[in-house]
Amino acid sequence: MKQRPIVVMTAMKAEMNFLLEKLENAKCEKVNQYGFYKGTMGDYPVVLCHCNVMSLNAAVATYIAIQKYQPIAILSQGTAGGYGKDIQKSDMVLGQKCLSITSYKTLYQKEGEGSQSLAWELVNFSEGEPDKIVYQYADEHLLALAQEVDDGGTKIHLGILGSGDCWNKETDRILWLHQEYGILCEDMESIAVYKVANDFGVPVLGIRVISNNEILGESYDRNIGLKSQKFTYELILKIKEKPWQ
Ligand code: 5AD
Repeated sequence: MKQRPIVVMTAMKAEMNFLLEKLENAKCEKVNQYGFYKGTMGDYPVVLCHCNVMSLNAAVATYIAIQKYQPIAILSQGTAGGYGKDIQKSDMVLGQKCLSITSYKTLYQKEGEGSQSLAWELVNFSEGEPDKIVYQYADEHLLALAQEVDDGGTKIHLGILGSGDCWNKETDRILWLHQEYGILCEDMESIAVYKVANDFGVPVLGIRVISNNEILGESYDRNIGLKSQKFTYELILKIKEKPWQ
């Protein structure tokens, strides 16, 4: 039987150059603006998806990847902004869970009362339980294997990825999301990849390297994405060694 591939979702081409170099016998299959690079890594089938920035793109591309390639697992990798004061640029975060940071309900405010972003409650608008917070979960086997990867001394945080189409720069809002919900970092694609993968029963894991921490004044550096690519590559080799039982 044909082996099912590992799919790797990446928002920007500049964040997947190293992985593309590692892909042998690469063939590009484009669907609209989404690039799917099919090949092998150490004889294991891998599809690298250039899904473009933002959650809607990531959701569509993840759905296409599942339908087109029936992946055994989906890895979502790239950069993220660090929340909290001890999550610094070049640290990495493995997303045990993922939470949408752009599904929220605001307080009612009269004209002239302004905006109270520290009182916006994260909710999921689920049918029947609209005010509930719904987490999306990583696959436990992938998470366990990721913890075996030799990270060369990088500080790895394990916990909640915040994700949505926004770029927060307000220190109080970032600290509030960190303290109130335990969120470790924010990006724009993980929530979509986790949601679609979870809905279709495909094991998923988000791997993010901190490229900026607005509250520490650490500015965005896209080149730092190389680190999460190297980590993802090592994880792919591990999955090959130790597949699901
Ligand atoms: N906020 C939101 N997205 C971020 N990214 C890196 N840092 C942040 C941040 N602080 C990622 C997104 C997107 C690209 C612009 O970088 O996931 O793909």
